Amino acid sequence: MTHTVLRWIGGAVAGAGIVVAALAAWTYTASERHLRSFPAPPPFTHPIATDSGAVSRGEHLVRTRGCRGCHGDQLQGELMWGMAVAPNLAEYARRETPATLEAALRHGIGAGGRALYSMPSYNFVRLRDRDVADMIAYLRAIPVVHAELPRASLPWTVRWEIARGLDAAMPRYLDQVPPLRRTEDPDPAIVRGEYIAMTSCNECHGFGLRADTPWDDGSAPDLAIVSGYSPRAFTTLMRTGLPIGGRELALMSGVARTRFAYFTDGEIADLYAFLRDLGRRAMADAGPAGKN
Ligand code: HEC
Ligand code: HEC
Repeated sequence: MTHTVLRWIGGAVAGAGIVVAALAAWTYTASERHLRSFPAPPPFTHPIATDSGAVSRGEHLVRTRGCRGCHGDQLQGELMWGMAVAPNLAEYARRETPATLEAALRHGIGAGGRALYSMPSYNFVRLRDRDVADMIAYLRAIPVVHAELPRASLPWTVRWEIARGLDAAMPRYLDQVPPLRRTEDPDPAIVRGEYIAMTSCNECHGFGLRADTPWDDGSAPDLAIVSGYSPRAFTTLMRTGLPIGGRELALMSGVARTRFAYFTDGEIADLYAFLRDLGRRAMADAGPAGKN
């Protein structure tokens, strides 16, 4: 009797094991199929200048666009959120071709053609060719700092969502990033400011800077808020991380100090011109209801 029960329990456990294994296999296969479903972008062929001007422009871009925030202070690579490894960029830039690096940066496709999940390529998709080339020149010029990095693996919870079509890899989102709209504006400060904002601030403030990120993170406000800032208060926010009223902001104070404090005065003025105009247009669009 006991023997039969034990045998039955043993059979049930083995059966459950088979179900779990089959589910895991399906989840893995379906998520890998998604990650490998994106075509390779056209190869990046812009020449990589190696003069000191290119390298220092690249340094400024890498600094202000925040690569260090995830890839480490010395770009040596870092484990992010316990699940993704942002690789050593100095080493990667030497090992891989410029086209491979550009595919990751602007298209969210990793070396080997597999889509990336955590790398925020939506923030870099509008970077100009020459700026990408200068960033690569810089990454190739700096010393490689070696660091022990764990192996990255996509968690099962993420794979499970991807397998069921409830989540997607980075390239799926990139055509939702609006194009630059102000490239023909008569005010060159607005043209330059839009470019900076659309390659720096949209990591958190929404693809179009209007708290319009397609997934729900919801913490960074619509940048139309800048219309309430004087040029001076805006400069203080960029240089020190402190907003009007002086409170410490979640995330923002930190990124201002590590990235935006490195903007030139001219870049801050351009950003301000563009964002104040964005706020003005937002108010005009809201119409009389905006007065309530
Ligand atoms: C918010 C964090 C974050 C920021 C900011 C960031 N990265 Fe990444 N990056 C990652 C993660 C995480 C990975 C690993 C792949 C993944 O999990 O998506 C990665 C992967 C990469 C890869 C390798 C892709 C591959 O596997 O072949 C390159 C190249 C790269 N990033 C370049 C950059 C550059 C250049 C910048 C700055 C302009 C930058 N990243 C900014 C998080 C970030
Ligand atoms: C890494 C994410 C991140 C990036 C990148 C970022 N911000 Fe923010 N920002 C935030 C968050 C989060 C808040 C809200 C913080 C809070 O209320 O505590 C915020 C708040 C703000 C505010 C409102 C401050 C106030 O008065 O309440 C302004 C203005 C602002 N950011 C401007 C910018 C500009 C301009 C850029 C690009 C140059 C930028 N941010 C880039 C995350 C970010």
